[in-house]
Amino acid sequence: MKIIAIANQKGGVGKTTTSVNLGACLAEKGQRVIVLDLDPQANSTSALDFTPGEHPSIYQSLIGGGEVADLVVPTKYDNLSIIPCDMDLAGCEIEMAKEDDHLVRLRNLFEPFKATEIADYILIDCPPSLGVLMTSALAAADELIVPLQCEYFGLEGLSKIVGVHQQIRDSGANSEVVLEGIVMTMADSRTNLSAMVINDVREYFPEVTYDTVIPRNIRLGEAPSYGQTVIDYAPTCAGAVAYRALADEFIARHS
Ligand SMILES: Nc1ncnc2c1ncn2[C@@H]1O[C@H](COP(=O)(O)OP(=O)(O)OP(=O)(O)O)[C@@H](O)[C@H]1O
Ligand SMILES: [Mg+2]
Repeated sequence: MKIIAIANQKGGVGKTTTSVNLGACLAEKGQRVIVLDLDPQANSTSALDFTPGEHPSIYQSLIGGGEVADLVVPTKYDNLSIIPCDMDLAGCEIEMAKEDDHLVRLRNLFEPFKATEIADYILIDCPPSLGVLMTSALAAADELIVPLQCEYFGLEGLSKIVGVHQQIRDSGANSEVVLEGIVMTMADSRTNLSAMVINDVREYFPEVTYDTVIPRNIRLGEAPSYGQTVIDYAPTCAGAVAYRALADEFIARHS
């Protein structure tokens, strides 16, 4: 079982869209996936057709202890489960910050769960901040995937998340977590800027940048409002094709 943090402190770059749809495409290909919604906005919870608060979130366990296994809820899709979010996760961040061990709480919680091997991948949909929840996701993760919007400010944000990744490694909280991938999102083939940003990122991070680029695609934005993944909502659209290709590339990297 591998834990993968899908993180970028910048908002609206495609973290949730990637967590849900990469997760769905991996599940379609037979991988057992759990999406952990670690963002109090609960976007991946509603995208997968749950009402925030309908099921317990990781909050109770982070504060009071408990078994991660009890929190996993199957979605309507084969091989795809979720640990949903409820609104309390916002308060959790504040409560956790008071505790000395806040950075490693999530990691400690997942340690016995990892040993059960009941999933292949846990994808953590992180909130858009450098707060306690996001850093504890990095401390718990084996790998980090950074979705990056194909825009100039996307590049600026990249150095920040790469810096935080290094800090987590240096802090001793998790010396193993690797920057597994950068996924370029919302690319617009009609603009030179997208191509320029993609080239720059490939130049700096030739090994980790995924070949697959996620285009700007309206169906990707529509699917969550129907509680559907893009491969369910519009299986042949450009967004579905791209996320399937991303899943293939992900599987190839991990085999
Ligand atoms: N490739 C895409 N094409 C078009 N729209 C997209 C694409 N990816 C994401 N979106 C839309 O852009 C918005 C932001 O995407 P998303 O919620 O995945 O980002 P996020 O990084 O999780 O945001 P936050 O930081 O708020 O958690 C959403 O409305 C989403 O539906
Ligand atoms: Mg999100």
